[in-house]
Amino acid sequence: MNKDLVIPKHIGIIVDGNGRWAQERGLSRSDGHKAGFDRLKEICLYAQEVGVSYLSLYVFSTENFKRDKKEVDYLMKLFVLLYKSEFKDFMKKNIKVVFSGRREPLPKDVLTSMDKIVEESKNNTGMVVNFCLNYGAKTEILDMTKRICLDVLDGKLKIEDITFDTLDEHLYQNLPPLDFVIRTSGELRLSNFMLYQASYAEFYFPKVYFPDFTKNEFMKAIVEFNKRNRRFGGNQS
Ligand code: IPE
Ligand code: IPE
Ligand code: MG
Repeated sequence: MNKDLVIPKHIGIIVDGNGRWAQERGLSRSDGHKAGFDRLKEICLYAQEVGVSYLSLYVFSTENFKRDKKEVDYLMKLFVLLYKSEFKDFMKKNIKVVFSGRREPLPKDVLTSMDKIVEESKNNTGMVVNFCLNYGAKTEILDMTKRICLDVLDGKLKIEDITFDTLDEHLYQNLPPLDFVIRTSGELRLSNFMLYQASYAEFYFPKVYFPDFTKNEFMKAIVEFNKRNRRFGGNQS
């Protein structure tokens, strides 16, 4: 790896194209999700190796419950497997795992696995992996608003004291803003991913389907990030 590359502190990945990857190979959508899941783990470990501090992974949207029950059930099974078979490698690497999203209507075994992962990894300091599972940015903003209103009603917060910090504290996770958002499969949209956190992120849309998003593709993304000139509304430097 080129030592001079700037590594984004917080990267978001919209995992997309598992279904099309499988279809092109005459496989089932479930096979595509399994291949994507294996790739996801590889990318997490690699991101840590290159020095990423926060990685937010969009793996299931609130809208994805509209899919066939068979596909949703399979994805839920994979999330349980995350705890049962993959999580030990995250622990070995000192990775802290958190989740963003609504708990309802996730199945009980998924919630139990998520809770165990969070509890067991809460003191890890290596890197934070934030799984956006049953996540939607509009739902997050709605939930944040309700939580702030409740704090005001409970007398814990005065309206005049509400700042951007207050908003951050009432999101699902209080993470630094996204520096870089990658969406695989060539689709050019956010599909309700971290709208607020991505305010000043750079965007990258490689054409490869997620199961083909190798370490080499990840590195190409980092190189692309280094070509961007981030201005945050200021003058061109
Ligand atoms: C991404 O792959 C995984 C999830 C959204 C859960 P898709 O399942 O969306 O794959 P395509 O877009 O149909 O190819
Ligand atoms: C976005 O992918 C959600 C996730 C990656 C989890 P979709 O495949 O669901 O998005 P659309 O439907 O193409 O916008
Ligand atoms: Mg898709």
